[in-house]
Amino acid sequence: MSEDPYPYRTPSTPIARGAFIVIEGLDRSGKTTQGKLLADALYSSGHNVRQTRFPDRTTPIGQMISTYLTSSSSTTLSDQAIHLLFSANRWEAAPSILSSLQQGTTIICDRYTHSGAIYSAAKHNPALPFHWAWSPDVGLPAPDLVVFLDVSPENAAKRGGFGDERYETREMQEWVRSFFVTMAAFGEEDGDMVIVPAGKEISDVANVVLDKVLPKVEVVEKSGSEVGKIEGRDSNGERSFMMNVRMMYETLGYSKDKGQEQIEYVAP
Ligand SMILES: Nc1ncnc2c1ncn2[C@@H]1O[C@H](COP(=O)(O)OP(=O)(O)OP(=O)(O)O)[C@@H](O)[C@H]1O
Ligand SMILES: [Mg+2]
Repeated sequence: MSEDPYPYRTPSTPIARGAFIVIEGLDRSGKTTQGKLLADALYSSGHNVRQTRFPDRTTPIGQMISTYLTSSSSTTLSDQAIHLLFSANRWEAAPSILSSLQQGTTIICDRYTHSGAIYSAAKHNPALPFHWAWSPDVGLPAPDLVVFLDVSPENAAKRGGFGDERYETREMQEWVRSFFVTMAAFGEEDGDMVIVPAGKEISDVANVVLDKVLPKVEVVEKSGSEVGKIEGRDSNGERSFMMNVRMMYETLGYSKDKGQEQIEYVAP
């Protein structure tokens, strides 16, 4: 008996490997909605797919993370400790991700290393700079494409409201968005990260996501290139990166002077 919504089908032509596609975005940006629509669309056009998500709360490490996220700030876990648990939660899944990719199955993954480093760095703990936050993920399987679903925190909040979990505050979300947009817009990711404006109708967003992802899946299935590895970041670049993040925060963000006005970032 299988509850797999996308049972494996033997491909009609040989597949070199599956593509590793990550969907990123703020809380309520539509990651789960779009990930499912994307997986459905790819599967119905003949690709083998599997969905994964982080944190994976089903493992013992994932349960510790879940307790942290849903409990009040009085928990004793330091910022570094919870950060490393998030990374460990990805490392424990890495062999299974790799084996699916090698079997020819495309992975649609809901959050991954970008969320991992960004949510920690957005705490602005001086002992946890961005390059430090990135480093425990170095060596993990690298995505072939990261799709960042970009919505304003204001728009995202209308979809159910923030406040249920620890990171769901307006200010935190604004910093998180600024980090993501900086990484995507300043060439940090050499073209493997795309910004998709995600404030529109669900089906409109889904069409754009599929347009970005399908060509990548087709190329990877044919190319046979090795799955990449997450590369380290140069600590010397931290200062200019953070200046760009701050500039982005001031451009995008809600501020007391601007009242409710929201400057929408226009994705390239
Ligand atoms: N484009 C959209 N327009 C309006 N509502 C949307 C849109 N996309 C998703 N929603 C709704 O917003 C809510 C959050 O969507 P979803 O769960 O997909 O977001 P998420 O990014 O996975 O959130 P989380 O970070 O909490 O897991 C759902 O109720 C969903 O139906
Ligand atoms: Mg979700």
